[in-house]
Amino acid sequence: MRPMVRTEGSPAARSCVLLAGDVLKTTACLRDGSLELIYADPPFFSGRNRRTFADHWRGDLDLYLDWLMPRMRAMKRLLAPTGSLFLHLDWHAVHAVKVAMDELFGRERFLNEIIWSYRTGGTGGRWLARKHDTLLFYARGPEYKFHRLKERSDLSHCYGFANAGVRVDERGPYRMTFMRDVWEIPALRGNSPERVPFPTQKPLALLRRIISLVTDPGDRVGDFLCGSGTTLVAATQMGRRAVGADISPDALASTLRRLQQLSPEELLTP
Ligand SMILES: C[S@@+](CC[C@H](N)C(=O)[O-])C[C@H]1O[C@@H](n2cnc3c(N)ncnc32)[C@H](O)[C@@H]1O
Repeated sequence: MRPMVRTEGSPAARSCVLLAGDVLKTTACLRDGSLELIYADPPFFSGRNRRTFADHWRGDLDLYLDWLMPRMRAMKRLLAPTGSLFLHLDWHAVHAVKVAMDELFGRERFLNEIIWSYRTGGTGGRWLARKHDTLLFYARGPEYKFHRLKERSDLSHCYGFANAGVRVDERGPYRMTFMRDVWEIPALRGNSPERVPFPTQKPLALLRRIISLVTDPGDRVGDFLCGSGTTLVAATQMGRRAVGADISPDALASTLRRLQQLSPEELLTP
């Protein structure tokens, strides 16, 4: 599919670039070193996606790596010297992909294995219920941008925590602590208000956290497997410039619809 660029229409479209096509083509449209953050949420190595993406690979892990790694290499080229990449995977392929990603970025550029823990989905069979995805966090270079975020840590009681930054609200006592690498963020349910009809849509809260960690307002954020456009919506709402792409016309249509629904107030000007 021939790449296309949309830069006009809704206010959102003015702060976003949307391209159509395979990652290898769409990344070639951009300048090397021009993005501060890339989020990559590729089709997982699972039976579900094997049917959908049968034209790219046929379910063998080596074939999956052969498909994925040239695209990761193309994305890496676009990262600024201070930039970072988050690769979103699950248990099917994460261990094999981690080895290949270490080779691509260098082991010393691997910063975190983030566990996104959720409670939706099935209960499994003769194994534990699988309730997490894994995000591999890599930096382009040693001078990467990183904001030390804090998160709420609930306490069972106040006693003994005097002078230790304990606060109390209607949910009880808590402290703000530096963010851990296990993220409890609810996955979207069918009736979630932000839900669009897209099967693998990720929560805005997940993308907001990633964007807050490694970018500042005005930075450019890229997602070349953008699906329903969650990254673009979050980035735009947070005053970042966004570039998105996907090979599927349905995904691009879904992304455009979401961007067009953003209100002028949500489009913060950095
Ligand atoms: C897991 S979904 C992304 C979901 C997205 N993060 C969201 O929140 O909606 C993966 C996307 O990759 C796209 N895709 C698959 N192969 C591709 C390729 N070779 N180039 C570009 N996009 C591709 C699919 O069309 C799909 O929309």
